Amino acid sequence: MCGIVGYIGREKAIPKILNSLKFLEYRGYDSSGIAYVKDNHINIIKEIGKIKCLEKIVDTMVDSKIGLGHTRWATHGIPSVKNSHPHQVGKFTVVHNGIIENYLSIKNELIKNNIEFNSDTDTEVIPALLDYYYKKDKNILNVIKKTISRLKGSYAVGIICEDDINHLYAFRCGSPLIIAKDDSGYYLASDVPAILSFTNKYILLDEKEIAVLSKNDCEVFSLNLDKIHKKINIFEGTQETIMLNGYEHYMLKEIHEESKVFLDTLNYYVKENKFKDTMINFKKYNKIHIVGCGSAYYVGLIGEYLISEFANIEVTCEVASEYRYKKVFYDKKTLVIIISQSGETADSLAALRMAKENHIDTLAIVNVVGSSISREADYTLYVKAGPEIAVATTKAFLAQVTLISLLAVKLSNKLELLREFNGLEKHIEYLLNLDYNEYAETIYKHENTFFIGRLIDYALCLEGALKLKETSYINALAIASGELKHGTISLINENVPVIGICTKKDMMSKTISNLKEVKARCAYTIFITNEDIQDDFYDKKIIIPKVHDIVSPIITVIPLQLIAYYVAKKRGCDIDKPRNLAKSVTVE
Ligand code: G6P
Repeated sequence: MCGIVGYIGREKAIPKILNSLKFLEYRGYDSSGIAYVKDNHINIIKEIGKIKCLEKIVDTMVDSKIGLGHTRWATHGIPSVKNSHPHQVGKFTVVHNGIIENYLSIKNELIKNNIEFNSDTDTEVIPALLDYYYKKDKNILNVIKKTISRLKGSYAVGIICEDDINHLYAFRCGSPLIIAKDDSGYYLASDVPAILSFTNKYILLDEKEIAVLSKNDCEVFSLNLDKIHKKINIFEGTQETIMLNGYEHYMLKEIHEESKVFLDTLNYYVKENKFKDTMINFKKYNKIHIVGCGSAYYVGLIGEYLISEFANIEVTCEVASEYRYKKVFYDKKTLVIIISQSGETADSLAALRMAKENHIDTLAIVNVVGSSISREADYTLYVKAGPEIAVATTKAFLAQVTLISLLAVKLSNKLELLREFNGLEKHIEYLLNLDYNEYAETIYKHENTFFIGRLIDYALCLEGALKLKETSYINALAIASGELKHGTISLINENVPVIGICTKKDMMSKTISNLKEVKARCAYTIFITNEDIQDDFYDKKIIIPKVHDIVSPIITVIPLQLIAYYVAKKRGCDIDKPRNLAKSVTVE
């Protein structure tokens, strides 16, 4: 996690760095900092809290043409000025995203060499190593090479050396890093949104490559210090894509982009009820493992139900942080599907690498183009969600569900099912335009909320509960309805609203009985369903359009997202940047 940026060029660096950092806040926002060069001297300013706190104490008028910036999600050491980046040791000032796993042994070794440390971070060993090697060899590229050889873990690093203030240096391994160029100079950033205010042209730095930026030039070297020619990528969207455009929060804006995101994803793979060449022709698989974290895992659960039901393939779904350490049984006809919005999640990447080490085919379902997971998988299918800024995923989730449903059709070979996707955008629009305040009103005062459902609806309950938890800090619990009686029902009383979801006809009577059971224990119940059933087991009802099971999860998630949004709003939460979270979890 953490976001890093850098600029070197002909214009003032500080306003550019602050602007870029704001677009990386989704990566962490407990503290931030900036380093810039003025009168041949490196100045560092750091502050706890969000970028707006840093902005208050930085003089944007300073005429500096080179600088680094950082927004932090604390891993080693509490959020404090001392632990915020940039970190400086001797001649080297550094910003870092990732974790240096062997930092303690390096730190102890350097302490023995009389090097002083001033923070609790793992990061500080990077400038310390650079400075240590620099004392023996003044060639900065050699020094970086030696430093990389010592580091274990993940890192994207930006560097300024006091003796060479006309260059920015950068290198990466595991954590993402891009380099961009406009007419004024060069940029360094963890992700594309950070540079979109200036340019849409960028290069992706590969593992252990080293970049040297000056105001006129960018050179990239391999670890052996051979010069490498890099491909320039063009980002398809505009800056509009990453602006609020009149919405109060990114989460709401992104939810309201869902019909477009659905169509963009569908139209990328399907034309006139047939798959286009963009869809992969898969060989026959006996087994599919789906792996992801957080919401991506819940997309995987939806995929598990759809692929096994429609394509008749044995599918299991697992959270990546468990999967990567488990004894996993592969055979030659196993496909491992990794789902990840960012394409950088550490556990998901590790799960992918584990499958590859076992020579198993891997497929990535990813949103961020050129991300590590997309690059390392054997096959990649992109969802067309565009940049997602709110920490709680919404439109990317919907796009992933769209794609996994298309994948179920592809693997099933029942191409007639593609017709079921036609016109779904109208249902999406309909659900986006309902008023969810009345539901939010009944939930926001409580500290607990339960979601109950069966099979695919249970997967949606998990996502609904996660959305509510992360945005409103309500303790939301998803329960497979059949499990209610095995303990959890003891928690039900008039202070626990229960949201029951049922979109499957054959599960209707079961879920209704479960709702009756909680109603009998005084719970306030909201029923989300596609049948207009009149009864007294619910207090409120949301009727969603009746569509085929293959596409039903795509639309059913929308009320859950919007309820979470309006509850969080009523509770006055920081909706786009919930406490303690970060969007891109690049550490284990
Ligand atoms: C974080 C985000 C979640 C996301 C999960 C997996 O926890 O807050 O919204 O589902 O990471 O991220 P990924 O980028 O792999 O989908």
